[in-house]
Amino acid sequence: MKLGIIGAGNMGLSLVEGFLKTKALKPGEIIVSDLDAKKLAQAEKLGVRTTRDNAELAKKSGTILIAVKPYAVEEILASLCGNLKNKLLISIAAGIPTSLIEKSGGRAIRVMPNLCAKDAEMAACYSLGKKATKADEKIARDIFGSLGLFAKVDEKSMAAVTGLSGSGPAFFFLMIKAAADAGEELGLPKSLARSLAAQTAKGAGEMAAKSSEGLEEMIRRVCTPKGTTIEGIKILEKRKAAEAMKGAVKAAAKRARELSR
Ligand SMILES: NC(=O)c1ccc[n+]([C@@H]2O[C@H](COP(=O)([O-])OP(=O)(O)OC[C@H]3O[C@@H](n4cnc5c(N)ncnc54)[C@H](OP(=O)(O)O)[C@@H]3O)[C@@H](O)[C@H]2O)c1
Repeated sequence: MKLGIIGAGNMGLSLVEGFLKTKALKPGEIIVSDLDAKKLAQAEKLGVRTTRDNAELAKKSGTILIAVKPYAVEEILASLCGNLKNKLLISIAAGIPTSLIEKSGGRAIRVMPNLCAKDAEMAACYSLGKKATKADEKIARDIFGSLGLFAKVDEKSMAAVTGLSGSGPAFFFLMIKAAADAGEELGLPKSLARSLAAQTAKGAGEMAAKSSEGLEEMIRRVCTPKGTTIEGIKILEKRKAAEAMKGAVKAAAKRARELSR
């Protein structure tokens, strides 16, 4: 397996770290390109090969992962046109349809990962382009499936996935920060408040993922009448925290739809 990754930014390097951590790929199986020498130096520290030349990367790789900002995708594909025939192109660019990627001559799979790929705690979905084969799907499942949740969806659902799990880590970071700040204001040491908030979010996430109980029922069960939790929930309800989170996911999904036009 030779995977070429174009773009060593936030997501490109998070994915490299995840692939190496889970041993889905060995360092020698990955080559990374970027315009920025500092980013390439970061990639080299992970033990992978690097280049500044996307054409060289394309020649050396059977599968190419496109991890640049959406606005850069078309230009990169145009510049590599002659090199992409018979290649599998996996794009993580928000809003860029497989139909556009396949115009380059390659076969496309679109993946919407998230930053948690770095720790193999990713929540992601993928959809296949018209030319993608079963063997291509197996390659994507073998490497991305090692990083966490990796579910197949119709391409029209990709905007919703982008809003929910692609952009989602930032929404939860904000909630963790708010909880940690409150802990600190109540007198806890800063680092303990952050650890308690992060671990509580992680534990609650694990429970929500594993339990067959409905989420409303899980909330109701911890809200003992006259207890402490119900007092906090009353504030969250009064200040419409649930509406705010729904609004955030929907706004991010709307932006993803705009990017695909
Ligand atoms: N960040 C997330 O949480 C997230 C989640 C899901 C999906 N995505 C998707 O992942 C993609 C990358 O996002 P990101 O946050 O990782 O962006 P990023 O940090 O800006 O990384 C993109 C990298 O690609 C480089 N680049 C630009 N043009 C290039 C070219 N022609 N050849 C080689 N490298 C080039 C950029 O260099 P310069 O900085 O010098 O331009 C930058 O280092 C986006 O399409 C985004 O929609 C991101």
